[in-house]
Amino acid sequence: KLFSIPLLPADYETYGALKTVRRLSQMKSLYADQEAADRLLENGDPVIYEVYELPHPNDETDLLVNITVLYPGYVGDEPYMTKGHFHREPDTAEAVIGLSGEGELLVQNREGELRSLKVAAGRISYAGGGWAHRVVNTGSENLVFFAVSGANIVHDYETAAELNFKKRQ
Ligand code: PA5
Ligand code: NI
Repeated sequence: KLFSIPLLPADYETYGALKTVRRLSQMKSLYADQEAADRLLENGDPVIYEVYELPHPNDETDLLVNITVLYPGYVGDEPYMTKGHFHREPDTAEAVIGLSGEGELLVQNREGELRSLKVAAGRISYAGGGWAHRVVNTGSENLVFFAVSGANIVHDYETAAELNFKKRQ
């Protein structure tokens, strides 16, 4: 596989990216303030983020090269965030490169250590293997970021959800 395309969701889609839309109803339990989530859901089901993922025909040798658009907003006093996951089999690293907006790459390892790395345009934030990771939009604009990891990983959302790792207020 060979390509060279701009780091833009629209160009990714033209190039055959699969678009996944994550709405509040699909991740409600991850937010601390369930009543605030219910109030938001009474007026619709807001889109929290969209992921544009290019095809990766060979899982063993390809890379996952995603762009995520994480919208600004709050559920109670908690900013919009991605679901978050561990990588497993193998438990490998990921690099996040900010394209626009501002936020944090929130990571927690299996020993319970919680760390926050800045995400911003022109910055690379790196989470080694063994760190569950999610991105939080702490700004008032869309947070757009590029993420790259090995295509052979399995996303483990369940173990990461049990960590209940949150942005410190
Ligand atoms: O590869 C990644 O970790 C990212 O591209 C995420 O998958 C993306 O930001 C969406 O987050 P999640 O997979 O936790 O829903
Ligand atoms: Ni990941």
